[in-house]
Amino acid sequence: MDSKYYVSGPVGPKPVPDGMSRRSFFSAMTIILGGVISSVLGFNLGRYFISPVWATKKENWINISLLEKIPNGIPTSVNYIQRKPDGWMANEGVDTVWFLRQGNKVIAFNPKCTHLGCPYRWDSEKDVFVCPCHTALFSKTGEVLSGPPPRPLDRYPVKTENGIVKILPEPEEGEI
Ligand code: FES
Repeated sequence: MDSKYYVSGPVGPKPVPDGMSRRSFFSAMTIILGGVISSVLGFNLGRYFISPVWATKKENWINISLLEKIPNGIPTSVNYIQRKPDGWMANEGVDTVWFLRQGNKVIAFNPKCTHLGCPYRWDSEKDVFVCPCHTALFSKTGEVLSGPPPRPLDRYPVKTENGIVKILPEPEEGEI
């Protein structure tokens, strides 16, 4: 028989061959798989908890009314449902906007007085907005006529598309 089929050398445990043993291989795979699972879980958990902070703010135009239904030249209040994101939830509530339509142009007023936020009303006899809390008066276009408010009525961005008046109900301080 040819001598290349005989193993010679010391008797005892087999020496560890060069390269990876089976045990080392499984240990390495366990560490790698553990790392991958931890990374995926960590990434998704992190995204879940931080996403409201990082979420890009998108414009949330709200359809309010047909333009033709808003009386021309007469301040008119309209109620609408607004969904407000609150972290991972969304709250719904009824809000109000005051419109002043002048032909095809519409002004949308925040319904809160610019003094301390009381709701005001339209006095059609005197042609003024009246805030009852501290007796402030605003003109039809929102300028302060008397009383403590520090600035005109706040306005919302407003646009008309396909005959529908939409607002972006983020308060805009002062004039448009
Ligand atoms: S809250 Fe309107 S005048 Fe004070």
